[in-house]
Amino acid sequence: MSYTIKTLNKIAKTGLDKFGEGYTIADDAANPDGILLRSASMHEMEFPESLLSIARAGAGVNNIPTDKCAEKGIVVFNTPGANANAVKELAITSMLISSRKIVDGINWANGLTQDVAKEVEKGKAQFVGPEIEGKVLGVIGLGAIGVLIANAAVNLGMEVLGYDPFISVDAAWGLSRAVKKATDLKTIFEKADYITLHIPYNAQTKGTLNAEAFAQMKKGVRVINLSRGELVNDDDILAAIEAGTVGGYVTDFPNEKMINKPGVITIPHLGASTPESEDNCAHMAAMQTKVYLETGNIRNS
Ligand code: MLT
Repeated sequence: MSYTIKTLNKIAKTGLDKFGEGYTIADDAANPDGILLRSASMHEMEFPESLLSIARAGAGVNNIPTDKCAEKGIVVFNTPGANANAVKELAITSMLISSRKIVDGINWANGLTQDVAKEVEKGKAQFVGPEIEGKVLGVIGLGAIGVLIANAAVNLGMEVLGYDPFISVDAAWGLSRAVKKATDLKTIFEKADYITLHIPYNAQTKGTLNAEAFAQMKKGVRVINLSRGELVNDDDILAAIEAGTVGGYVTDFPNEKMINKPGVITIPHLGASTPESEDNCAHMAAMQTKVYLETGNIRNS
């Protein structure tokens, strides 16, 4: 048999190599059996009749019209867990850079032109920021990524509260016993010094963090969003920062409203951007596609 794979984004070669003989891989294939993509949107795309599967090298599938795929019988894969370590590392980094005012400090130091060493010692007091050890972290969403972050935060001496509407924290998700279960978001909002979001974006989760949520939060809470921009209401978080309720917001999804705003650190969607994660995602997406096309078996791992 021969198969054609269309790539909508550049996918790590280590993944594409998995296809081997019998496969044609092209970014302009007209009649593909499978599509591989990362963040390109498929919402406006015509679906070729030949298409059997779409594999996203990443966790979120909000760039794929899954209802339309279901109607047409096209199987959609994502790569759960494949980029979890990369996101975990950036989530911990985000808490630290926000807390310790690292971005403001670097920008300030880069603006010094004379007597730099002396000026640094004179000016550094404005960048004092708290340590994360002993503070409360609320992890919203306990999938592969949330669990890794919760465990890493426990190891850094944080008190961790986990919340997930679908998963019992008592269940075997590899969570450290030190991670406590929050039965509702309100508990997280009221207790957390840091909140990190790891839930998918859909109609139900849009604006999970909004004015009503911010009103319940501890003063000075820092919010980390490496999941999807739409999970947080932009206007509401800017107002909460202005009011001092939110002490800092790190988002991996910059937009015009968020760029260069006091208290906001924007990262250009780098959560999964490590060679290790890109290899893992490409490998998983390629193998899911290959197995499905060759055998009809669906494996989402
Ligand atoms: C994800 O959903 O896992 C990320 O958005 C992947 C990416 O960076 O493209």
